[in-house]
Amino acid sequence: MHLALFSSVFICVHPWLFLLVLLLTSPIAHSADAEYKLVLVIPTNNAVLVRLPLTDVTGKVRVKEKTSDGFGIPVAPSKTVLGKKHYLEWQIGYDSPNTNSPSSAPQIHFTRKGETKYGHELSKILLDALRLGVLSTNDLQRELATLPKLAEKSFEEREAVEMEAVQKPDEAGFARSVQRVPQFIKLTDHGAVQIQLKQKQRAVGYQAMVYVCLPMDQVLNGAAEPRKAAAAKSKETVFYRFDRENSGFLLDIVRAFAMASKQHNEDIGNILNKILETKAPNP
Ligand code: ADE
Repeated sequence: MHLALFSSVFICVHPWLFLLVLLLTSPIAHSADAEYKLVLVIPTNNAVLVRLPLTDVTGKVRVKEKTSDGFGIPVAPSKTVLGKKHYLEWQIGYDSPNTNSPSSAPQIHFTRKGETKYGHELSKILLDALRLGVLSTNDLQRELATLPKLAEKSFEEREAVEMEAVQKPDEAGFARSVQRVPQFIKLTDHGAVQIQLKQKQRAVGYQAMVYVCLPMDQVLNGAAEPRKAAAAKSKETVFYRFDRENSGFLLDIVRAFAMASKQHNEDIGNILNKILETKAPNP
């Protein structure tokens, strides 16, 4: 049936259903639904708060149960009492091709392979942390100075997913094989930082990915109190606080990117330089 004809028949026969479809597909409904998924970076007096979604299971922030191998097991956040055994695995970003996001830092811009990139998430956290005195100019200069040494670790270039020799097939024709996947992990009192090899999304091969792991017993609710162990409410968000007590953890994240690959190391150098330039008083 012709689409216009189908629509008018549909409106006449199911006016309420039509309204519902209109409401659910409208841009307003979408923006309200998507708002809680955004990672927000919020500077306060003496700390940088990061707001993270708890129930965006397909997004960059996922709830996992801790495992001894460090890889964790994803859980259904609204069906699990989230407490000591759980953490948020955040695939933190540091750049974006645009400045559309609320966690963008447009003052930080650099080029990668001829394309302009703008600061995002980690870049904004570092910029705000420096302004608030959570980090010092010295801290960032020290990180800049250690970049060449960390570039030698270049996880992506030096590590590989290994396949153990495939065994001969059994009577039914099935052959056993085992993959070994390397990771770097740093455990701290404030959370962990991981570098893992992941299959590239649109190309052949593996790329280094950096994940920040935030223990559920260290996140805050909307009233800035420790969140009590409970299943996630629909569209619930939580807060993680970076302040002078855990600023070392922030620098661990910077170091993880510096070790992840030569490209990440170069990007972090550009970002740190821009942040320091931005902070420097005008001559
Ligand atoms: N580039 C930006 N964010 C990244 C992340 N978390 N891991 C790897 N590369 C990235």
